[in-house]
Amino acid sequence: MSQPTFPAIRMRRGRSAPWIRDMLAEHRLHPSDFIWPLFICEGDGCEEPIAALPGVSRWSVDRLAAKAREARDLGIPCIALFPNTPASLRSENAGEALNHDNLICRAVKAIKNAVPEVGVLTDVALDPYTAHGHDGLVDERGCVKNDETSAVLVEQALVQAAAGADIVAPSDMMDGRVGAIRAGLEREGYCDVSIMAYAAKYASAFYGPFRDAVGSRGLLKGDKRGYQMDPANGAEALREVALDLAEGADMVMVKPGLPYLDVLARVKDAFGVPTFAYQVSGEYAMIEAAAAAGAGDRDALILETLVAFKRAGATGVLTYHAPAAARLIAG
Ligand code: PBG
Repeated sequence: MSQPTFPAIRMRRGRSAPWIRDMLAEHRLHPSDFIWPLFICEGDGCEEPIAALPGVSRWSVDRLAAKAREARDLGIPCIALFPNTPASLRSENAGEALNHDNLICRAVKAIKNAVPEVGVLTDVALDPYTAHGHDGLVDERGCVKNDETSAVLVEQALVQAAAGADIVAPSDMMDGRVGAIRAGLEREGYCDVSIMAYAAKYASAFYGPFRDAVGSRGLLKGDKRGYQMDPANGAEALREVALDLAEGADMVMVKPGLPYLDVLARVKDAFGVPTFAYQVSGEYAMIEAAAAAGAGDRDALILETLVAFKRAGATGVLTYHAPAAARLIAG
């Protein structure tokens, strides 16, 4: 039987007024879709604006509870924390990552103390702590050593869990680290600490402003293509996700966001597990630059890009626009 066509079908009937557009919307943004990444700096009463990320700052630990309260009041369920480690504490072996009193641990404790109802996600990777800016320990040729790094990442995740992190998120792309971290968490009694695996993380040119924010851009020797994925590959992302799930990941992530919506959709279709997108720093900066240059309306660009993640199948989105978007949704 053939489908009715024009004029029996007029697609525009469904677009003819706001109420019917609302009624027929397939996806809707909600503040609970967002995870808000926050940068931390040393000091007291400090706010350090990040030039490469207009509107985003680093906050000292004493000011973070206010940001967590802001998240809660906006209905944002979870924040992600990234420390800018002082240069004097960065080293070849990233020892500061295992210091129970390091910047991120103090931040986690302050937030869980003041606003326990907000989820706290911490990044598991060594780049904020290494003198060379890589996510792991490097050998004499500058190559990141997989198994040695993984062993340190387990300890790092345990330090973060001890401080009170709710979700640990390995962003380092070492093989086997999710299983190793899960085993470590179980062994030490952190059964309720979740793992969000940066499962399909690409070697991307969109991370530049983030590396400024955590102070690793100038330090990085070479690039991260020896461990992060090749932007040319999609099927490989499915293998990465399958491995991380088999090793015990509770949630997976695709990163960056918008340029990888095809990967996100394939992952969600193939596995049906909680799947997050990271709209990364370079994406944020592009939207801000486009709006500042008059190329598009900022609010509309924010909402359109975020709903695109939902359409592609995202469970949620890590985005620096989280508070702005939550305010726009609230109207
Ligand atoms: C570190 C890490 C990076 C990001 C999150 N965790 C940078 C990198 O891999 O170089 C990027 C986030 C962003 O650009 O917003 N392992």
